[in-house]
Formats: sequence, C-alpha cells, structure tokens
Amino acid sequence: MRLNEEQKKILDGKKGRILQEAMRGLVKYGDGMDAEEFIPISSAHTAFSAMNIVALAFPPRGRKLTGEDIGRFSDEIAVTRAKVKTTVNPGIIDRKKWRQMGADEATYNSVIRTVDIARKCGIMTTYSCIPQLTDNIPLFGEHYSWCESSSHPYINSFFGARTNRDCYELSLYSALLGITPNFGMHLNENRKGTDLVDIQCELENTSDWGALGFFLGEELGIGIPVFNNLKRPAVEEAIQLCASMNSSGAIPMFHIPRMTPEAPTVEAAFAGNEPRNTYIFDESAKRKVYQHLSYKPEGKVDMVFLGCPHETLYDLEEIARMLEGKHVARDTKLWVETTSSIRDAAEELGYAQIIEDSGAELFADGCLLIYYINTPAKWPKMDRMATDSPKNAFASRRSFHSNIFFGNRERCIEIAIKGGV
Ligand code: F3S
Repeated sequence: MRLNEEQKKILDGKKGRILQEAMRGLVKYGDGMDAEEFIPISSAHTAFSAMNIVALAFPPRGRKLTGEDIGRFSDEIAVTRAKVKTTVNPGIIDRKKWRQMGADEATYNSVIRTVDIARKCGIMTTYSCIPQLTDNIPLFGEHYSWCESSSHPYINSFFGARTNRDCYELSLYSALLGITPNFGMHLNENRKGTDLVDIQCELENTSDWGALGFFLGEELGIGIPVFNNLKRPAVEEAIQLCASMNSSGAIPMFHIPRMTPEAPTVEAAFAGNEPRNTYIFDESAKRKVYQHLSYKPEGKVDMVFLGCPHETLYDLEEIARMLEGKHVARDTKLWVETTSSIRDAAEELGYAQIIEDSGAELFADGCLLIYYINTPAKWPKMDRMATDSPKNAFASRRSFHSNIFFGNRERCIEIAIKGGV
C-alpha cells in the first residue's frame, strides 16, 4: 500500500492510538487484497452494538477483555469522530421493548452507554439492515465501506455505488479514517458479469425472489450474475434477492439489464467477458430451494419470524392487512422485525396497533440472530420455526438447530394463527 504523508503520520501514531490501530487494520487489509492505495469514501455502515463487542476490533487481542479494558477503550474512542456519515447494523436489543424480549437491565444499560459513545463519535445508531432505504442512501459512482451482507449487492447493483462486503472491524476503521483500500468492487474490471442466469419461471412473492438469490449463491459460489428474462423487482423483492445470495454464496453484485446503471444490455454487463456458465432458474430449481431450506417442517411451530432483512413500511402495511381481526395461536410467537424509524411511522399509521392486537410482537433495532447470540435473555422456545426469509431459515437452522418451515409471508401468517404446519 502506498501511503501519503498524512496517512503515514496516522500509522506512526501521531494522531492517537485509535486512529493508528484503524490505519494498521486497513493497511493489512489492503496489503492482503493487493490494493495499492486508499480511496476516499462517502459513507460507512458498520456495527456498534455494545462496547464489549466494538472493543474486539482493537488491541489487546488474544485474551478475554476485562471491564477495565472496555472502560479505557470506550474513553479513547469517544473522543474520536468518524470522518464520514456512518450508520450501524442491527443491535442486540430493542431499546423500547427490551423487557418483552426477556433482556435484563444490565444489558439495556450497556446498550444505552454504547449509544452515548456512538453519538460522541458521530456514529448514528440507526440499527438497520436496510440502511440504503432509510438513513444512508447511496449515490451512483460513490465509494463506500459497508458491512451488511444483504445491503452491499443492493447498492452495487441498483445504485451503481461501490462497496466490498467489509466486516464490521474494517468498516469501522474506514469510518474513522474516511478511506478504504481500493480493490474488488471499487474497480471497474471487477464489476463485469461472469455468468448468465436465465429465468424460466414466475417469481410471485418476496420468498420466490429470495429462493432465486439462494439458488445463485449455491450455484455460483462467488461471481457476478447477469440476468436474462428477469422482470424488474419491487424494492421488497430486491431486498430478499440480495439477502439470500450472500447466505448461500458470496455475490457482491449482479446485473439486471436496463435496471443496473452499468448494464444497459446483457452485452454491456459482460463488458467483453465470456460467460463462464449459463444457469437456468425454473420451477424445479425454485421448488428445490424451498425443499432444501425446510427441515422437518411439519408439526407445532413455536416461532414465526418475519423481518430478515428488516421489513419496510410497505411490508408492515401488508402484514397488518393479513393479521387484521385475527389472533396468533396461544403457544406460538409471531415476531416481526424492523428499524425504529419505520416502526415509528407504522405506529402513526396504525399498522403497529393492528399487528400487536393480533398477539404478534413488532420489534425494532435488532434481529433474532443478533439478539440470540449476544443477549443474555430468557429466550422463547424455537424448536420449530417458520419464516419467509431464506437467510433467516438458513441461519436459524445453523444457530438454533430449529426445525424449519420456509414459505411465503401469507403462509407463515396462516401458520402463526393456526400454531403449526
Ligand atoms: Fe438483518 Fe439480521 Fe437478517 S441483520 S439481514 S435481520 S440476519
């Protein structure tokens, strides 16, 4: 990595330990990825959920952090301001409804302390996994450092913005320094299509779009698909497509001709590349994804989870319509997840009331997986779950060993009302 004079000073520690460590991390990352230089970024999206987790991005490493380590680190980072607009991924509790989640007061207090430190750093605790639609809207051709696996293909493919799938440490370092190593999706040559995907079936709901994404991740592994014969997705469909492809694989971008800004045609999307392979997504391929993601689906369902990635206001309106006048079964939970700003709007519009009157819970700021992995809480039973999200189905099977029903939203709501499959 070539560093300018200012960057060398930071690396030498002349601007303090936090920035020095951030620069060390970015130089290592850049060297590892054969980047030659840094580029300025316009925004970052990172994770900032609790100081004991944020502190892991900085030394001391290789030993359990003590309360004193975390306190010292918190004081140091609180006087370091992010150089660019920075938003954050879902956190570990719902700050308004943490008691309903079963979280304890100590966890709540530690999150509130973390929010205060983030504010001092100029980091916006938006706790959203759809920041591109809420608080961190990208622009064509701008460079970013984002950590959310479902958002990065969205902003590369629909906005023509440029980000790699950075982890939370690297996106935090990039946020603090306002730069990121120039490699991968930041470079024109890496944004060309690699494989052709021909769509030969109807995509009827968001779960079908998720199934397409999951298929791509499994088949391509790593690559940049170019679609043929794909209709234009709605925002909610695009969200599921993007989230699923990075559950089963690693797809940083795709081209939908006449929709992706860099792809007016299929030929332009390949930009001279010969397609490595052609894949066909038809009814049989779609059915296989549904079968693959469901595991022992039949029987009593303990938890129905909607909102991975976070539900939009439009999703909440639809869920409210489906639940109006109905009631969730007594021994089944229906959890719906979104961001705080969308929940506020849903409260004003009356959707939240309808959802909660049905016995469902409308949570904000987090996600089931992040809650579960990081929060000491009394957890509801999750022996069998139902979800409309391939990402959630895939991850819940692995994280909670739950039996899974994967199906569309309407079917999931029916299951919540009935209490089983
Ligand atoms: Fe968002 Fe959590 Fe799903 S961060 S994409 S709700 S796994």
